[in-house]
Amino acid sequence: MPLTPAELAFDSSGTPFSPAYGDVYHSADSGPGQPRHVFFGGNGLPQRWRGARVFTILETGFGLGLNFLATWNEWRADSERPERLHYVSIEKHPFGRVALERAHRLYGEFGALAAQLRAGWPAPVSGLHRLHFEDERVTLTLAFGEIAEVLPRLRLSADAIYLDGFAPQRNPEMWSASVMKRLASLAGPGTTVATWSTAAVVREGLEAAGFALEKRPGFGRKREMSAGRYAPRWPMRRTAQPAFVPTSRHAIVVGAGLAGAAVTERLAARGWRIDLVDTRAAPALDAPDSFAGVFHPHVSPDDCIRSRLVRNGFVYASSRWQTLERAGHALAWSQCGVLQLSADSAQDRRMAATIAALAYPPDFARYVERDEAQSLAACRLHRGGWWFQSGGWMRPSSVIAAQLAAAGASVTPHFGTAVSAIVRENDVWHARAGDGSIIASAPVLVLANSSDLTRLATLAQPLAIVRGQVTYVPAVDIAAPRTVVIGSGYVLPPTDGLVVTGSTYDRDDGDAGPRVRGHEANLLRLARLLPDALRPVEASALTGAVGFRSVTPDRMPLVGAVPDLDAVLSRKADLTGAHLPDLPRRPGLYCVAGFASRGLVWAALAGEIVGSLLEREPLPVESDLADSIDPARFVLRLVRRGRL
Ligand SMILES: Cc1cc2nc3c(=O)[nH]c(=O)nc-3n(C[C@H](O)[C@H](O)[C@H](O)COP(=O)(O)OP(=O)(O)OC[C@H]3O[C@@H](n4cnc5c(N)ncnc54)[C@H](O)[C@@H]3O)c2cc1C
Ligand SMILES: C[S@@+](CC[C@H](N)C(=O)[O-])C[C@H]1O[C@@H](n2cnc3c(N)ncnc32)[C@H](O)[C@@H]1O
Repeated sequence: MPLTPAELAFDSSGTPFSPAYGDVYHSADSGPGQPRHVFFGGNGLPQRWRGARVFTILETGFGLGLNFLATWNEWRADSERPERLHYVSIEKHPFGRVALERAHRLYGEFGALAAQLRAGWPAPVSGLHRLHFEDERVTLTLAFGEIAEVLPRLRLSADAIYLDGFAPQRNPEMWSASVMKRLASLAGPGTTVATWSTAAVVREGLEAAGFALEKRPGFGRKREMSAGRYAPRWPMRRTAQPAFVPTSRHAIVVGAGLAGAAVTERLAARGWRIDLVDTRAAPALDAPDSFAGVFHPHVSPDDCIRSRLVRNGFVYASSRWQTLERAGHALAWSQCGVLQLSADSAQDRRMAATIAALAYPPDFARYVERDEAQSLAACRLHRGGWWFQSGGWMRPSSVIAAQLAAAGASVTPHFGTAVSAIVRENDVWHARAGDGSIIASAPVLVLANSSDLTRLATLAQPLAIVRGQVTYVPAVDIAAPRTVVIGSGYVLPPTDGLVVTGSTYDRDDGDAGPRVRGHEANLLRLARLLPDALRPVEASALTGAVGFRSVTPDRMPLVGAVPDLDAVLSRKADLTGAHLPDLPRRPGLYCVAGFASRGLVWAALAGEIVGSLLEREPLPVESDLADSIDPARFVLRLVRRGRL
């Protein structure tokens, strides 16, 4: 839902101040001093994080990011720091980059860190945004939105909690009893909490939620502060299924397409070894979309779950690609912008109204009239539509190559090798070839083999396979657009003398070769998108390529732990009224597939989700999004309907 960015002001002492809440962002006594004393000291840091592989801090109110910068700075200075620091922070009114820059000038000691934070600062759109620093050892997950909505959707286990809303009387929604209860649901034995506030409502709320509190000397002019730990007087809740803990950081990944390469890169970044198996002789070889695909946000009037997952994935993928480029990996892509045209005047009005209601930042998504659309695309168009300035096209083979290069020596490739069966024996998964020989063995196996997935694992739901044909039009035959233009089809700006346009959507069609009929259909779509652009061309003289999309019935991907259907069947009676976390899973078996036409925006995020699940790190997506892509959702539906 729309976010209202914060307005930066300063009070008479020069302390950053919020006109909307009538309160300062931190103690007037010292910006950096408060986080050190209240949040760091109050949570027993750095002692408590020493020796941890992963340490997770949850904060209410990101504001200027001062607490984050101070924590990151302490992490750098501590020789016994945790291997990976996760910092998750909730913010309803994010600042823009310019305001942050202005405010950060006050905290010169964090100058270099603050510059990195601003460089990765995401568009102010709601949802989770994951930023990596320090070679991925420090990860910031920004949860943009209203705390009452966002907090229940976080999936994490907090080691320390920083409570930093504005003063409770001015900002009661940040300190409500239900917020405290939700915080407790993300806490476990040993979780600590600290805040500068000693207000009765805060202390009572925390204590009622199960935190044991004490008052400690406060910072600066504040006489006292509150600190405590989660110690409920009732038995702590247990998760329905114990989390899978791998015996070593070693996985087999089956499939080296967009899905498998992303998983490989995300696991390698966490220090895993990967055996990567693909039938193809080299990754992404001969895939039609290896030429180029389109990436852009998805907009819907009700900001549906698909729009939210695409937004999450779009922002994450774009930032990963930029990181790969900065690390010296060449990518073939362009953020030339994507124009999504309306089909008729009624749709045009709806598109304008939708964007107005969603109030996205204009550089993320805005409505443009026909004249502006024409000048953006440098083409004659019938209508206007949505303009996604940071969308564009990408050659998937270049991302795959970059991800595998980034994973480097962590990967043992097995190309030109098909996995015929998978088995688990003595806590180890084996991938077997057709002759029964073992290709690789590891405690974890990730199926990223598109529609072949359901041959190797049972999801209680077949995947549809949808043929798609693209057409390559010689650039000399078309007045090509300067941006990507999409509608009922798509057309890309020219690259290497060709304009890619497409694509067909052919169900129940296994023909792997391009057909003249497919080119004709694509030329018709092109003519509707770009009137007068195309010179007369013979469809039979054109080249193109064919690929197959794997599509789930709800058109959401499959990302996560594979259900254990045998175990579900044997416990059927206990599982009536079950939720996804109650369903048994096959230990160490995960899948990433079913991307339909959105592999580019979803793959990087899917890889990060699998990495986070395996390391028991905070999830980079909200829980309802994680549930919407859970590979066990089809089994759950059958269980609930009594159809298993
Ligand atoms: C015509 C067309 C146009 C498209 N346009 C776009 C677009 O504009 N934007 C976009 O985002 N997406 C687009 N897509 C979708 C996108 O291409 C897919 O979402 C994406 O390629 C899926 O990636 P994947 O890794 O899941 O599957 P794949 O790319 O199919 O990779 C699966 C890999 O698994 C390997 N494999 C399978 N079985 C086995 C086995 N048993 N053993 C070993 N290896 C195995 C295969 O060889 C393959 O390399 C398009 C698709 C098509 C067909
Ligand atoms: C005191 S400031 C946080 C300062 C911050 N921790 C820092 O280090 O700069 C409080 C923050 O809470 C945010 N906030 C207030 N109400 C909120 C709500 N209902 N949901 C989420 N965030 C909220 C404000 O926008 C503000 O940025």
